[in-house]
Amino acid sequence: MAGVCDSDREESWKHSTEHGTEEGREQGSPPAGPHALVVGGTGMLRGLTLALAGRGLVVSVIARNRDRLHALAAAADSLTGAINPIPLDYRDGEELRSALRRALAAYGPVGLAVCWIHSTAPEAVGQIARVIGSRGARSRLFHVRGSAAANPAEKAQRLPEWLAHCPNVQYRQVILGFVVEGARSRWLTHQEISDGVLAAVDADAPFFIVGTVEPWSMRP
Ligand SMILES: NC(=O)c1ccc[n+]([C@@H]2O[C@H](COP(=O)([O-])OP(=O)(O)OC[C@H]3O[C@@H](n4cnc5c(N)ncnc54)[C@H](OP(=O)(O)O)[C@@H]3O)[C@@H](O)[C@H]2O)c1
Repeated sequence: MAGVCDSDREESWKHSTEHGTEEGREQGSPPAGPHALVVGGTGMLRGLTLALAGRGLVVSVIARNRDRLHALAAAADSLTGAINPIPLDYRDGEELRSALRRALAAYGPVGLAVCWIHSTAPEAVGQIARVIGSRGARSRLFHVRGSAAANPAEKAQRLPEWLAHCPNVQYRQVILGFVVEGARSRWLTHQEISDGVLAAVDADAPFFIVGTVEPWSMRP
């Protein structure tokens, strides 16, 4: 486990500097700029991740598949920001926490986190919040959730209990809804999801729905 994040970071920088895409960057040194985190950034949030790197952020990305992570880092080569690939399984809380601490030590506090996490890791969002909120700096954490989180039968949107222990974390929920087209409906495309979650980040609302969740009876 030790060094997973660091070794991949070094590989990422090597890749970037070898291609000479970032003018003025000292060989081998990380770029200046705010630090963001995207959990699941190689999937449907890939577009969002690259958009953040395009805004000059260093984006730490958590996913398991190393090839997809490195392809993402390469896709950011021509952008002003960069990708810090963190290959791990977020179901392993210990590995998650220690890799995040290394990323914070290397790139500074995470001002923005976007987390798409399967229900197989119910503790992961809280574990991430505790680490990124531990440095004293304020962090906005956007928790991306499936449409089921907006089920009117469970209308009460309860805030997570861990929030009480993370005073530096501003918690936002982004619900992925669906699209109604005439008499039919469909799920969101990856592009719509990435664009919509980026809009949620920019709007900075506590609760944001991408697409719609109404009428609920038309949920695909
Ligand atoms: N309302 C909607 O329209 C809606 C809502 C939700 C989903 N969907 C659709 O459903 C499809 C499937 O969803 P999906 O959840 O597979 O989304 P996805 O975003 O395509 O893939 C999941 C992301 O999380 C990472 N990941 C998964 N398990 C992980 C783990 N244990 N540890 C670390 N990283 C992990 C994946 O990388 P690795 O596999 O490399 O770990 C990947 O980056 C999506 O492509 C989307 O089109 C639609």
